Amino acid sequence: MDKKVTVIGAGNVGATTAQRLAEKELCDVVLIDIAEGLPQGKALDLVEAAPIEKHDAFVQGSNTYDASAGSDIIIITAGIPRKPGMSRDDLLKTNMNIMKGVTAEAAKQSPEAIIIIVSNPLDAMCHVAFDASGFPKNRVIGMAGVLDSARFRAFIAMELKVSVENTHAFVLGGHGDTMVPLPRYSTVAGIPITELMSEDRIEALVDRTRKGGGEIVGLLKTGSAFYAPASAAVEMAEAILKDKKKILPCAAYLEGEYGINGLFIGVPVKLGAKGVEEIIEINLTDSEKNGLENSAEAVRELVAALKKLA
Ligand code: NAI
Ligand code: 2OP
Repeated sequence: MDKKVTVIGAGNVGATTAQRLAEKELCDVVLIDIAEGLPQGKALDLVEAAPIEKHDAFVQGSNTYDASAGSDIIIITAGIPRKPGMSRDDLLKTNMNIMKGVTAEAAKQSPEAIIIIVSNPLDAMCHVAFDASGFPKNRVIGMAGVLDSARFRAFIAMELKVSVENTHAFVLGGHGDTMVPLPRYSTVAGIPITELMSEDRIEALVDRTRKGGGEIVGLLKTGSAFYAPASAAVEMAEAILKDKKKILPCAAYLEGEYGINGLFIGVPVKLGAKGVEEIIEINLTDSEKNGLENSAEAVRELVAALKKLA
């Protein structure tokens, strides 16, 4: 295929992302992991599924970065989950070091690529990848808002018993408890949900969205969500590969937009071949603005903690 995407981390999110990219025939995929045999095995398995799935995208697995050279997009899902006895700072430090290392290696091989970060803590990891790559801000983007908005959309569709295709939702802010779902900008066939549901029901769906990641962890017990996260990362990649100019909520580096400076946080952006082509500033009520500022403060604290650990 004429496009190439490298997915770093061949775990649950990375492997599912590779599968969706290939099955949508968007690009060839290079799947990289430190675990010997894991990316090679999953890649070969996906290649062997191709005749049945009827696509000609090639997936190659590797423990090194040579094969990733000249990628259009690098999707980073590498990281470790929190283990028993590990403090939040231990996890932050470990994932920061992984992010630094993989970003530097991948950026060296593909200096013109656009980076999509998935690893957690998402907004903080965007800062690490931004610094480690030296790429301009339009080419470093975090995936969270698309996932959080998809969760909100799924809950709206289930509540109103309508097609998910009729739903639209915006969730801004950091990827955590302080995220800011925006019911005023969330619609069913263009009708704001504020006209279709009681305040109590909206609040219940907002709360479920904020806790959406934890709900899946509570059910799976041994890991976190990966089907919807992979779909979200692939929607972003597709918008870039096809230069769709699609408006999606993504973690982008703000320099004054929404009154926030020098911080990655989730806002609506226009995604196209150049990455973040525009940051869309929508009108917010005072309470929505406070929510976003509160979320930005939580991200600032994490970034400050990172700087101390570095
Ligand atoms: P996983 O544990 O299944 O996979 C992670 C993979 O990263 C493992 O295969 C591991 O070997 C690999 N890895 C670790 N260090 C590496 C290195 N230095 N180089 C290359 N590969 C390395 O985890 P999963 O479920 O795939 O999640 C991946 C990350 O994405 C986690 O940090 C998770 O919290 C995050 N996540 C973020 C979401 C978001 O909305 N932004 C949604 C879902 C997951
Ligand atoms: C999620 O929201 C764990 O961040 C991940 O599912």
